[in-house]
Amino acid sequence: MRKNIVAGNWKMNTTVPEGVALAKQVCDDLKGFKANCDVVICVPFTHLCPVNDVIDQAVVGLGAENCADHKSGAYTGEVSAAMVASTGAKYVILGHSERRQYYGETAETLREKVALALENGLTPIFCIGEVLEERENGTFNEVVKAQIVDGLFNLSAEDFGRIILAYEPVWAIGTGKTATPDQAEDMHAHIRAVIADKYGKEVAENTSILYGGSCKPSNAAELFAKPDIDGGLIGGASLKSADFMGIVKAF
Ligand code: PGA
Repeated sequence: MRKNIVAGNWKMNTTVPEGVALAKQVCDDLKGFKANCDVVICVPFTHLCPVNDVIDQAVVGLGAENCADHKSGAYTGEVSAAMVASTGAKYVILGHSERRQYYGETAETLREKVALALENGLTPIFCIGEVLEERENGTFNEVVKAQIVDGLFNLSAEDFGRIILAYEPVWAIGTGKTATPDQAEDMHAHIRAVIADKYGKEVAENTSILYGGSCKPSNAAELFAKPDIDGGLIGGASLKSADFMGIVKAF
C-alpha cells in the first residue's frame, strides 16, 4: 500500500545555524507523538550534513531540493546525486516549478536527474503542475499528463515504483491560494489514471501523490481526507515547526 507523506521544502531559506535549529525542533516535536505518516524535510545543499548530524532519520527523513543532471566533472557550482547521497540524504525534490521556471529545467534534464537520483539510491519527489493560464484555459489535465509522460515514462515499472509525485498547481504556490480539495482530488485521480494506463493499476495504487501549494494546518485535513491525496509538499508552512506539525497531525 502507498505511504502517506508530509515533506517540507525549505527552498532558499534559513542560514545553516537556523536550519539546524529548525531541523532539531522538527525532530524533537515529532518524537512527542506518533505521526500517522512519513515525515521528510528537504533542505538546501549546505544544510544536508549538519542537519543529518542532529536528526534521527527514523523520525524525519532528509532530502535535497535538487541535484545535477550530470554524474561528475567540470560543472562548476553543481551538486551531484552521489554527493547528495553521501551526506546521508535519502530524498531529492526534482522538477519543482521554480526550477523549471527560473533555471530552465526541461523534461530532458529531468530524465537525467531522475536516473542519477535512482542510481544513487535517492527517492525522487517529482513535481508537476500547471500554471494559472493552463488552469483557466482548461488544458491543465493534458499539461500535467505531458510532464509525467515526458519526465518519467522512460522508467521501468520497478524504477517508477520508487518515485513520489507532488502535484503543485503553480498558481497555488506561495500565493495563499490553495486548490480546493475537489480540484486537487480530480487532478490526483487523473494522475493515478495516467500512471495506471502505462504501468497498470497496482503500480498506480502504490504511488504516493502529494499535494503542494499553500497547504497549511487549517486546510491540510480536508485535502488529506481525499482518497487520492497521500500527503503534502509544504513550502512556507514547513519553516515553523509548529505549523509543520499542524499539517503532520492532519493525518
Ligand atoms: P508553499 O510551497 O507551501 O509555500 O505554497 C509549496 C512548494 O513550492 O513546494
